[in-house]
Amino acid sequence: MERTMIAVKSDGVQRGLIGEIIKRFEHKGFKLIGMKLVKPTEDMAKQHYIDLKAKPFYASLCKFTSAGPFVAMCWEGQSIVKVSRDMLGETNPADSKPGTIRGDLCVQVGRNIIHGSDSLETAKKEVSLWFKPEELIDWKSCMESFLYE
Ligand code: RTP
Ligand code: MG
Repeated sequence: MERTMIAVKSDGVQRGLIGEIIKRFEHKGFKLIGMKLVKPTEDMAKQHYIDLKAKPFYASLCKFTSAGPFVAMCWEGQSIVKVSRDMLGETNPADSKPGTIRGDLCVQVGRNIIHGSDSLETAKKEVSLWFKPEELIDWKSCMESFLYE
């Protein structure tokens, strides 16, 4: 099983899409391990997007992210890192297929409502950035044997 970090960004929160996004992950069959609504500090936003620090949009991205509110989540499931990126769609909603979250629910790259870790290594870093170990709940889902053989 893999874990990944998914976040509803402030544009997604403001647009009332927290429930829709959680629904897609729940209905897929993934398991929620941790979740919190936060107003990130600018430092947290900068650490979260550290790989993009050379990009011209880094400062505005971090400012927008730190404005909050931001729903940080940890989800678990088989191959979840890749599958969740597929569920998100492309970074630019204009390139995202209908049926994906960004393809269905947003328009512009700077307002693309959701974040998802882009590799297993990034997922580990991001989960530990946003969650203390005791904020991640290990629980057994009663659906497990109907999702996995
Ligand atoms: P995310 O990290 O938020 O899940 O997005 P991503 O992997 O699909 O894309 P990434 O390259 O990591 O970019 C992070 C966020 O920066 C904003 N962005 N703006 N103006 C631009 O050209 C531009 N490019 C990226 C987007 O909000 C993107 O999600
Ligand atoms: Mg990214």
